[in-house]
Amino acid sequence: MIHLSDITKEFGSNKALSGINLEIEAGEFISLIGPSGSGKTTLLRHLNAQHLPTSGTLTIHGEHVPTLSPKALKALRCKIAYIPQDLGLVSSLKVYQNILLGKVGHFHSLTMLKKFLAPSKSDLETIHQVLNTVGIPEKLYDTTSTLSGGQQQRVAVARALFQNPHTILADEPVSAVDPARAKSMVELLKEIATKNNITVLMSIHNIGLAVEYFPRVIGLRKGKLVLDSTSPNEQELASLFELDSQDLIG
Ligand SMILES: Nc1ncnc2c1ncn2[C@@H]1O[C@H](COP(=O)(O)OP(=O)(O)O)[C@@H](O)[C@H]1O
Ligand SMILES: [Mg+2]
Repeated sequence: MIHLSDITKEFGSNKALSGINLEIEAGEFISLIGPSGSGKTTLLRHLNAQHLPTSGTLTIHGEHVPTLSPKALKALRCKIAYIPQDLGLVSSLKVYQNILLGKVGHFHSLTMLKKFLAPSKSDLETIHQVLNTVGIPEKLYDTTSTLSGGQQQRVAVARALFQNPHTILADEPVSAVDPARAKSMVELLKEIATKNNITVLMSIHNIGLAVEYFPRVIGLRKGKLVLDSTSPNEQELASLFELDSQDLIG
């Protein structure tokens, strides 16, 4: 479904990724680990065509991404939800408005504005449904800033689901919360992804969580893929990154 062949990404003289080969099948639940600066965010941004490679081949759903028209690129991105490291929520907006923003790329800006100011009954129903899926249906009309960190994470997942995506990319969505909350978040995403056959790629700095919940773990180091394992064990992962012992926080 997503195919990367010998991908290199350079920012000026800085090589953020080099020689990346990767095959991702529909419905996979994959974690991405690696020290800070190893290229996790850069890799995730290639998977929704936010970044184009400096060299190499990037194919998503059979489409060779660098040759797509802007319109085709937009259509492609609509089906790939991205949860950024800071969650990307506007804290002064209501929860339902943040969720509507999940579809900001799908419509003409005037249509979007209208939806935003006067959401249709069917949009509100769908939003209520996705909030129900993430366990906080009662927060529909709350101002986002009044929610706890864990609840805001759930809003970010609900916003992703509202896009009706085939793929969710999540950039360290659980790095800022305590271990119990991180665990329940990963469990929630896994349950939703399995039920809806959504492909998930999540960068994560907790090796224990990566091993416990993800059937496939990919490891990056200095822009290179150093691990792609379907039977990872915690010690192997810890020793792989031992030299960068100040944790895997990215
Ligand atoms: N937009 C950018 N412009 C310049 N350099 C960048 C940009 N994005 C990432 N980099 C560089 O690429 C490397 C990988 O960064 P990143 O993908 O953010 O790593 P990680 O997410 O693993 O911490 C770093 O050296 C970083 O400074
Ligand atoms: Mg990062």
